[in-house]
Amino acid sequence: MQKIHISSLKNYVGQEVTLQGWLFNKRSSGKVRFVILRDGTGYVQCVFFKGNLDEETFDLADKIGQESSIEITGKVKEEPRAVGGFELDGTGLQVIQDAKDYPITPKDHGIEFLLDNRHLWLRSKKQVAIMKIRHRVVKAVRDFFDERGFTLMDPPILTPNSVEGTSTLFETPYFDLGSAFLTQSGQLYAEAGAMALGKVYTFGPTFRAEKSKTRRHLTEFWMIEPEVAFADLNDDMDLAEEFLEYVVQTILKEKEEELKVLERDTTSLQKVMKPFPRISYDEAVEILKKNDVNFEWGNDFGGGDETIISNQFDRPVMVHRYPAEVKAFYMKRDPENPKLALAVDVLAPEGYGEIIGGSQREDDLDQLLSRIKEHNLPQEPFEWYLDLRRYGSVPHSGFGLGLERTVSWICGLDHLRESIPFPRMIYRNTP
Ligand code: 4AD
Ligand code: MG
Repeated sequence: MQKIHISSLKNYVGQEVTLQGWLFNKRSSGKVRFVILRDGTGYVQCVFFKGNLDEETFDLADKIGQESSIEITGKVKEEPRAVGGFELDGTGLQVIQDAKDYPITPKDHGIEFLLDNRHLWLRSKKQVAIMKIRHRVVKAVRDFFDERGFTLMDPPILTPNSVEGTSTLFETPYFDLGSAFLTQSGQLYAEAGAMALGKVYTFGPTFRAEKSKTRRHLTEFWMIEPEVAFADLNDDMDLAEEFLEYVVQTILKEKEEELKVLERDTTSLQKVMKPFPRISYDEAVEILKKNDVNFEWGNDFGGGDETIISNQFDRPVMVHRYPAEVKAFYMKRDPENPKLALAVDVLAPEGYGEIIGGSQREDDLDQLLSRIKEHNLPQEPFEWYLDLRRYGSVPHSGFGLGLERTVSWICGLDHLRESIPFPRMIYRNTP
């Protein structure tokens, strides 16, 4: 018997095939048993008529528990009313392992219970759809940069210093060398890469010991960080908007079915087309004031502020030139106003907040040395980074896109925890 996957049923109409998978759901009525099988590529209903198979097998269809692993043989029929558009006229059923009392039943469960059972929860229809979209986002990200001459360069995860401030560092003992830190960002290494290869991007796990318990924060998340030599802040914003348009439009085109499973209203996503509005931090502060927010110039925006700002626009908005004091040490100051950093944050619509943070980098050795001092960072671990300013320094820029924030936004999730297979948060590092 031909063993196939549910996704290729369309090529086997009228033929008898064997499918292997898990029992998603079942019901019975009189002389008929309905079994819905899932195999990771889709869902299909198999119908067993009493006369078509031996008594024992027919009874089996009623007894096996949800999520039992099974093998089904049957004839493929086109059936527009069924899930996936096909149905199997069952002739055989074999149980590989009969699962009893699967903990996640079709009834509602609390979020903590589901997170405790994340290893099983991943099998649910919605979670499968999210993982497929995440996978497609990852591919779109790679395609975008690969097609534009960027080289993927993997930065280290164990590092000797901080990138995004010292308050969110995970520290680990490192043999005779004292401490190592889990990387907060691959950026500094991407800068070395840009000086070697011109255009690079990193794509890997990053870590923040975030004490905040918000729906936008994980302690372990994946970041995509392009870095480009001879690019200024405007070039950086051009790249960011082209990139986001590409990723979102690709998902709309190729993951329509999964977005439907998630009941995602895609009206807002369809508008993600360049050009995106570009406003300065000062203009963003004006927006907050007009909306009666008591906001002091010089502070960073909170999640609520970001929502108010982004609600003024119908697509992602790029906010540039932040007060240097709230931004990282490596950002170049605005030559027109040294109080400002040549930074940009891209805020997603629908209250999803910052998904991209980027900047033009400080390329002058003396300026960078003063920044390191001002931020109370030790100079020694940054000597290699300073070398990039000693040997052929050039203007350069880049940004970081948070994968989970992007997937959450595209999928319309209300918390980042469902956008990654096994979320890590302040109160959770299991399963
Ligand atoms: O704004 P961030 O901190 O920027 C950097 O790390 C720069 N080094 C990037 C660069 O210029 N190469 O982080 C970038 C993005 C954020 O916009 C957000 O999408 C995501 O990373 N991010 C988080 N995602 C989930 N959980 C967290 N705790 C995150 N912190 C940042
Ligand atoms: Mg940021």
